[in-house]
Amino acid sequence: MMRLMALLSPTLTTARLVLRPFRDADRREVFELHSNARVMRYWDSAPWRDETQADRFLARCRALSDNEAGARVAVERRDTGRFIGWIGLQHWDHDNRSANLGYVFAEHAWGQGYATEAGRALLEWGFDVMDLNRVSAQTDTRNEASARVLTKLGFTLEGILRENVIVDGEVSDDATYSLLRREWTSTHSAPSPQ
Ligand SMILES: CC(C)(COP(=O)(O)OP(=O)(O)OC[C@H]1O[C@@H](n2cnc3c(N)ncnc32)[C@H](O)[C@@H]1OP(=O)(O)O)[C@@H](O)C(=O)NCCC(=O)NCCS
Repeated sequence: MMRLMALLSPTLTTARLVLRPFRDADRREVFELHSNARVMRYWDSAPWRDETQADRFLARCRALSDNEAGARVAVERRDTGRFIGWIGLQHWDHDNRSANLGYVFAEHAWGQGYATEAGRALLEWGFDVMDLNRVSAQTDTRNEASARVLTKLGFTLEGILRENVIVDGEVSDDATYSLLRREWTSTHSAPSPQ
């Protein structure tokens, strides 16, 4: 039964954010996000040039859900309804109960704790509702903001994947992180009644 309700992308609400399934109407915002070279600075593919790439992204979000291979959701502010980015648990491995966390936020939304707040909500869903045991994440070793987000979320650095990415001809290393269910539970379980 868990598999049936499974990776239908969830709608999750936090103090300041709503995480929700993507809609076709997000096409323009998604294109603007992924065509910004500063946002894509440490991403493992070049900034988009062609709006059809946004169509392929939205189709991929639907396929992830349909194939139970992950959940990628749009993030918007509750107060204004403005789209500020996306976050996802991808490469979902049902046998090993593991998935990989990824996220991209718009420049205007950086530095306000939004990625961390969205990450907590999605991890809570992944561990508590979907019964994941392990979530991994990779980030370019030069991407200090992303490393900080993962650290704030409780991830542990496992090692460096040397020269794992080549973006626009530039070779770089990835840091690989993980967060285990037992670590999540020990810091997020409700206090037991006295
Ligand atoms: C990485 C990213 C998601 C962070 O989003 P965000 O909403 O700004 O993150 P938060 O505000 O929750 O936390 C960012 C933390 O990094 C810190 N930080 C930001 N820039 C930094 C830098 N250059 N060096 C060190 N720390 C930095 C912030 O101070 C904050 O830490 P603090 O709360 O201890 O002060 C966002 O910058 C982004 O989308 N970048 C482009 C895409 C990307 O790199 N995605 C990740 C790929 S793995």
